[in-house]
Amino acid sequence: MVRWRTLTGLLAAALAAVTAGSLTLAAPAAAGGGTATPYVVGGTRAAQGEFPFMVRLSMGCGGALYSSRLVLTAAHCVGATGTNTSITATLGVVDLQSPSRITVRSNYVYRAPGYNGNGKDWALIRLATPVTGLSTLKIANTTAYDNGTFTIAGWGAAREGGGQQRYLLKATVPFVSDSTCNANYGGEIIPAEEICAGYASGGVDTCQGDSGGPMFRRDAGNAWIQVGIVSWGNGCARPNYPGVYTQVSYFASAIASAAASLGG
Ligand code: ARG
Repeated sequence: MVRWRTLTGLLAAALAAVTAGSLTLAAPAAAGGGTATPYVVGGTRAAQGEFPFMVRLSMGCGGALYSSRLVLTAAHCVGATGTNTSITATLGVVDLQSPSRITVRSNYVYRAPGYNGNGKDWALIRLATPVTGLSTLKIANTTAYDNGTFTIAGWGAAREGGGQQRYLLKATVPFVSDSTCNANYGGEIIPAEEICAGYASGGVDTCQGDSGGPMFRRDAGNAWIQVGIVSWGNGCARPNYPGVYTQVSYFASAIASAAASLGG
């Protein structure tokens, strides 16, 4: 089984090239071979303002606004910890080409300590200037919300091997237990660090370019709360291959400490 996160570096490089110039993005060869499930896969368009914390990152990933200056994303979307002014975050719009979009440059990346491509798939990006007028997405710091139905959203491919999206897509997917997910993936899951979601029949999933974006649900007070970070999967939306997400509750205290060390 190929873990997608190993391919994402290639995808990010290709997307960076697209952003920089006018190259046509070819899907990685290894991304093909699956079913081309029309329409995030199986999604619909999000309304402007529906998910104000959604962030698009210039390397071709998603993210969530954690605070006015910090974006929570996936470790596999970024380079090593340190000063980094190369990332542009686009916020406040569902249409990435909207004239009302907010764009802000990064000034620092914090990648999960010990990240080696297997688990620990989270990172914080600090923005050069704080954004105003957008609500943040709080992270789950208990396992209480690691169940139920989750919302996923992103500008990634709407089908396996497909292109990136101009408009934010959203969908809902049910929780999949670690035991089922690990059985689906032949023992590749890291149960403590990862949470899976999707239908056994497939059809709805995050996909390439959604990485780093949040998986979230409503909490007891009806507020959105982040339970996952898009990490990897075998293809997209294939039957019996749920999406695999970083389990935010497991890393919540590490994320909070890192955020504090970055100035909050
Ligand atoms: N690693 C991918 C990315 O960089 C995300 C893959 C998610 N795949 C899935 N089947 N849920 O965008």
